[in-house]
Amino acid sequence: MNPNDSPILEIANAAKTFRSGANPVTALSDVTLTARRGEFVAVMGASGSGKSTLLHLAAGLTRPDSGRIRIAGTDINALGDGAMTLFRRKHIGLVFQAFNLIPSLSGEDNIALPLLLGGIPRDTDHIDNLVRRLGLGEVRCRQPDSMSGGEQQRVAIGRALVTKPPLVLADEPTGSLDTSNGRKLCDLFRELCQESGTTVLMVTHNPAAAFAAERFVILRDGHLVGTLDKTACPTVRDLNHAYMEILEGETQGARP
Ligand SMILES: Nc1ncnc2c1ncn2[C@@H]1O[C@H](COP(=O)(O)OP(=O)(O)OP(=O)(O)O)[C@@H](O)[C@H]1O
Ligand SMILES: [Mg+2]
Repeated sequence: MNPNDSPILEIANAAKTFRSGANPVTALSDVTLTARRGEFVAVMGASGSGKSTLLHLAAGLTRPDSGRIRIAGTDINALGDGAMTLFRRKHIGLVFQAFNLIPSLSGEDNIALPLLLGGIPRDTDHIDNLVRRLGLGEVRCRQPDSMSGGEQQRVAIGRALVTKPPLVLADEPTGSLDTSNGRKLCDLFRELCQESGTTVLMVTHNPAAAFAAERFVILRDGHLVGTLDKTACPTVRDLNHAYMEILEGETQGARP
């Protein structure tokens, strides 16, 4: 098989319980999810359902208690911390819920930071293209403390895309964006999937943002409780309806 035909992301039976507090919290239970190259997948679910934990496992930032995670055929849990950092730099673009920008750097230098860290030459055309497509012309020379929340979020997205990673993991990337910028970002993700074969896994609880994806996976209380696609949900309304039905069905099912 051509290696490019294999799924870029394979999560098999992943489970994670946090034991740091007084009571253990099971954030994920037996989650299996595969994404192929060029696919745009939305991860939906209520607050606390395990969406960020799932992304952190996929990024190798959190280790699962059990289960396996492969990216581009590599079992990432077999990698040590140093090797994982290098692997992540090469394969994954990460957009966190918190933007984690460097306060002393301009918007453009924040975007270019992964190139510096990876010893990759600065591709000015690519950076110009990202700045234009993310609508950051006004703030490319400004530092984060003089940017709006939405501008900071878009700089964080530029930073995730600057190395042209095959896998983009984005946690609520439209959370601080107005409707128009949220739509533009989803269009950009869709174009990247189609044009460059990038795979995007985007967490959101907003069905209107999720609808830009091809496939929608739904988490509830750490379980993957449903997968929907455009055939099942041809409109945002259908998606919203099916999403609510799955969540409510599970709520009823969970009652004694
Ligand atoms: N480091 C941690 N230590 C203890 N509990 C944690 C930790 N991280 C997450 N949790 C718990 O695991 C569960 C899942 O959290 P997670 O952050 O994955 O949810 P989420 O779906 O991303 O929620 P939100 O939409 O609010 O961001 C929650 O109950 C949360 O309190
Ligand atoms: Mg979260």
